[in-house]
Amino acid sequence: MADTRIEFCGVTFKNPLAAASAEPTLNAANMKKCIDAGAGAVIAKTMTDSPDMRELTQRAKWRFLNAKHEVCHGKVPRSFSLYSRSGLALEPPEDFMKEITETVKYAAQKDAVVIGSIGSTEIDGWVTLGKQMEDGGVPLVELNFGCPHPKLMPGVRTGMNVGQDFDYACEITQKVSEALDVPIIIKVTPQVTDLVLFSDMLQKAGAKAVTLTNRFIGFVPDIETGGPLIYGKAGVGGPWTKPLTLRWINEVRTALGDKLHITGTNGAYDWRDIVMFIMSGAHIVQMCSAVMCYGYDWLGKQVKGLETFMDEKGYQTIDQMLGIATDACMEYGQMPHEKASVDKKLCINCGMCLKVCFSDAMQPDEENVFVKEENCVGCGGCYSVCPVKGTINLVKV
Ligand SMILES: Cc1cc2nc3c(=O)[nH]c(=O)nc-3n(C[C@H](O)[C@H](O)[C@H](O)COP(=O)(O)O)c2cc1C
Repeated sequence: MADTRIEFCGVTFKNPLAAASAEPTLNAANMKKCIDAGAGAVIAKTMTDSPDMRELTQRAKWRFLNAKHEVCHGKVPRSFSLYSRSGLALEPPEDFMKEITETVKYAAQKDAVVIGSIGSTEIDGWVTLGKQMEDGGVPLVELNFGCPHPKLMPGVRTGMNVGQDFDYACEITQKVSEALDVPIIIKVTPQVTDLVLFSDMLQKAGAKAVTLTNRFIGFVPDIETGGPLIYGKAGVGGPWTKPLTLRWINEVRTALGDKLHITGTNGAYDWRDIVMFIMSGAHIVQMCSAVMCYGYDWLGKQVKGLETFMDEKGYQTIDQMLGIATDACMEYGQMPHEKASVDKKLCINCGMCLKVCFSDAMQPDEENVFVKEENCVGCGGCYSVCPVKGTINLVKV
């Protein structure tokens, strides 16, 4: 059977799936459920010294939205959005550390890893929270520079407000990495222009890994009432964000390689997505929205799905898949020319290819269609819309 173990920042994980920092990891009881379900790791809900960020969790609200961005009732579609507002851990650090130490003990019996997550509003606070986590026995600490909500809370300088200020973020990173023996991971916001530049700066400041990425801020009006859904702006994400996240994983791996490990979050729905995150370059894949939608068991099902996939494909280790799609990614100028070719025997003459050809390459003849080769750029639009698989093929030239 495939070996799902993976080494991340010097720590061995029994599998690459982590329950992301959120309500499913709100306290020891919840984290134990993630561990029992089979997650290789849990990232605790972000511990904070900010009363505002703790209080926000008391007023947490979320809705699963369908593709039209209407609230779901009952069945949630695969392409859902999670529209949500929540703060950080409910309990003050002294109390929350009891949840951590209890979970660390439990995880040790189950061969699972507990990652601490912290969020302060002051440089010294980041250091203090980091040390508390380290003393609590976690082998890794994640600094949450990605939480979108402080952006909407005047005067609360944490989360994304830090992640958008690269120099301040690096100052914190340097202070915390110098103060701690355990490696630190920086969780970033996607709402910046250049995460490759930022990741490089963070690595130089002492980060051993980045978490790419936290969620976006969104806004959804309710057209029936004319008011905002759940009273105002909120975080937004869901499985549809995956290609946006994978783009950054691809680029950070390409630029920094082994210098900086990557854990991926924001868009991983099931085991297929875990594979995509790994093939893009993420050692560890964090999952939140899908667990919030389907419950803890979802985690175990995805670990099994990953094992089955690896066995079927002949991957013996996670390392064999790590970054392979990114490493094979071509520059635009290297990509081959292709042309469409039509198997006229299979063509049902539906005319779809004619509608989507903007190069005047796909043309009707007395039988059905043919490709005027000198016009064809091999874009693949016809290949995608053709309803009979195998009728239109793309041939390298
Ligand atoms: C309700 C909710 C609460 C969250 N709380 C935290 C948090 O406390 N700390 C943190 O770093 N990320 C938090 N996140 C972000 C998740 O950890 C995760 O990175 C994000 O949801 C993207 O992953 P997904 O696509 O699997 O949902 C939260 C997300 C949601 C939806």
